[in-house]
Amino acid sequence: MTTRKRLVVLTGAGISAESGIRTFRDMGGLWEEYDVMEVASIDGWKKNPQLVLEFYNQRRRQLLTVEPNAAHKVLAEVQNLFNVFVITQNVDNLHERAGSKNILHLHGELTKARSTGNPSRIIDIGYNDIKWGDTVDGYQLRPHIVWFGEEVPMMNEAVKLVQTAEIFAVIGTSLNVYPAAGLLDHAPKGCPIYLVDPNDINIWRRDVTVIKEKASVGVPKLIEMIKNE
Ligand code: OAD
Repeated sequence: MTTRKRLVVLTGAGISAESGIRTFRDMGGLWEEYDVMEVASIDGWKKNPQLVLEFYNQRRRQLLTVEPNAAHKVLAEVQNLFNVFVITQNVDNLHERAGSKNILHLHGELTKARSTGNPSRIIDIGYNDIKWGDTVDGYQLRPHIVWFGEEVPMMNEAVKLVQTAEIFAVIGTSLNVYPAAGLLDHAPKGCPIYLVDPNDINIWRRDVTVIKEKASVGVPKLIEMIKNE
């Protein structure tokens, strides 16, 4: 019996696009309608927390209405072929709902809230709104999201995972946001790297196999390509 290879996957908003969740930077993306610094930065939170809460309440309500798509499902199905580790920039829970087991959320999770007084006090809120005045241990609750201007606490763990990859795949991210985009540079020498995206991505490495498809088509193609590696 052969051991299963470690397939490490970095996903972004594009993998959830076909589920009906808007990406950020495409045409019609969220950052066209909203000012990212108003709704997704620590300064925005300090300036107008109610606006920020409402932005994430809307995202959370919408999450309840969508389903994992073929790409999320295929990544869950291939856990019997590979040792799969998903590093996601997404704050949705579609990888979980599709059945993936090893998931690292780099930018937080919509279905969790945390204390503004104690960052390690994180609570499950499901699909409920967070309102101004909702507290835990006397402190206002905030979305459990990594905002612009904040540290990315899970980054070290993500780097370690990528360093142990035997196959690395990047799916549906514009690679515009650091430090997440820098993960690409941590793939071990000789580790095959794949990128699934229907649009052209500004990629600085040459050793990347690009699958220019939407995730629902590109992810099954990726698996076909790596099955016998
Ligand atoms: P972006 O919106 O920057 O990029 C989405 C990528 O998905 C683009 O490269 C699209 O071409 C691609 N895409 C669109 N439809 C797709 C499909 N059906 N299948 C596959 N790919 C598709 O989103 P991210 O790169 O995830 O952070 O953005 C990174 C971070 O920036 C987010 O986590 C978020 C955002 O600001 C925070 O809010 C902290």
